[in-house]
Amino acid sequence: MASRRPSVLDSPVPGTLLGRRGSVLDSPISRRQSGTSSRRPSIDPSRLLPMDKASAIAGTNDFNVLFIGAGNIMFGSDEGPWNHSFRFEHKLGPRLKVVALIDPAIDRATAVLQKKCETFVRSAYENTRVFRTLEDFVKNMSRKDVPRAVIVGSPPMFRGTVQTGRDIELQILKFFPGVAMFIEKPAATGPSSEIEEAFTIAKRISDSGTLCSVGYMLRYLRAVQMMKQIINDNNLTVMATVARYACAYEAIAKPDWWDKSKSAGPVIEQGTHFCDLSRYFGGDVDMTTVSAHSLDWDENAGHLSKIVIDETAIPPENRIPRVTAATWKYESGAVGSFTHLVALQGHDYSCELEVYADGYQLKLVNPYVQPVLFIRRPGNDHEESHRFPDDDPFFSEISVLIDNIEDIEEDPETAQILSTFEDACKTYQLTWAIREASERNRARSLELKKEAGAAISE
Ligand SMILES: NC(=O)c1ccc[n+]([C@@H]2O[C@H](COP(=O)([O-])OP(=O)(O)OC[C@H]3O[C@@H](n4cnc5c(N)ncnc54)[C@H](O)[C@@H]3O)[C@@H](O)[C@H]2O)c1
Repeated sequence: MASRRPSVLDSPVPGTLLGRRGSVLDSPISRRQSGTSSRRPSIDPSRLLPMDKASAIAGTNDFNVLFIGAGNIMFGSDEGPWNHSFRFEHKLGPRLKVVALIDPAIDRATAVLQKKCETFVRSAYENTRVFRTLEDFVKNMSRKDVPRAVIVGSPPMFRGTVQTGRDIELQILKFFPGVAMFIEKPAATGPSSEIEEAFTIAKRISDSGTLCSVGYMLRYLRAVQMMKQIINDNNLTVMATVARYACAYEAIAKPDWWDKSKSAGPVIEQGTHFCDLSRYFGGDVDMTTVSAHSLDWDENAGHLSKIVIDETAIPPENRIPRVTAATWKYESGAVGSFTHLVALQGHDYSCELEVYADGYQLKLVNPYVQPVLFIRRPGNDHEESHRFPDDDPFFSEISVLIDNIEDIEEDPETAQILSTFEDACKTYQLTWAIREASERNRARSLELKKEAGAAISE
């Protein structure tokens, strides 16, 4: 069983964290940043275990966690397999103590806690207090409530900037310097003019040496780590990534999702997972090369018959495209392409990512539902297939985060965090570049149509 280095939080916390520059957490241990760690940059896929095969982390002392947001990502819903609280319960076992739940929707927060307290995980939640804001919690916090991890699942419009009220990362750095963070994707959803603010936050996080993981959980799929392993073991250079993300629009009933003034549009809000995976294999993108086209709601081919919300209530200029198809060059010279479709009905999404290198095709199919990896190797036409039953990337991302916080020494195989805040900002930047490129082309073609119409009527 792995043992752990003692944490600075194992000893009593002197003084208050509020209003101080330095921190009780300023020790070298807590300052190890995920990006500069000596840990493995990828994970041996055989070490990614489903929850029922993984045992809770060793130790007996309480592990304080602070949750920000009481919504679906934190406590689950019918929409999908996400539910961070459930994974924390399994990873930390009886050590888990959720010190507070921050959400302006007090009733919702109280209701989810009530439900937890009716189950066998009661000990993690029976003393959880609910606050509208982080500041309220800090004002009312005692020493024993200091968290070791802050998990942020509030909507992205309230984060990723340096502006008051939309700067939760900076607040966490201020109130809890050195305490690890987990932030949901995307990094933000404000206007593109604010992207630089997200990078400012990335720099503040990295300069402070704070451990920070962003919720691009597909990086933790066993299939994805097997693709990485093949690339690393064979010293391959990626030539191209080809990604396709087709959502099942009939199942999407959140009106905000259909309004790009609210959700920033489907590429930024949802396609982001596949833009991120593309970058995970292709590397940094030369943003000047991003080009894209869209099929829009007002074009004949863009008509959808089964939208479950009232789209006419959304101003025309804010309605989302049905198809967005983009290409770009990576800085390595490789080429990336991505197509997002709002076209399918039913429930399951249809998503695929192909990665090409000399002699190799690595094709990841259905990563959300039942991942299958098809591999074609050099000198061969045969396509092998690998299935990964019971894989749980949501558990793996939480598990790696906790292992990094606990700093398990005996386990050199423990991976570093696979998605840093800076990396997430680059993905955010790519998705905005795709949206803007497609909107430029749409504006151009509307202009041309207008000119042609004017010419005919003359
Ligand atoms: N990785 C994934 O696959 C995945 C899946 C679902 C959601 N998400 C992400 O999780 C985030 C939240 O999504 P969700 O589905 O849980 O949304 P949700 O609407 O179900 O819940 C959001 C909660 O945050 C609360 N909230 C609003 N403002 C807040 C603030 N300033 N501080 C604290 N809480 C606040 C709301 O009251 C609500 O309870 C989004 O960024 C989304 O993209 C990721």
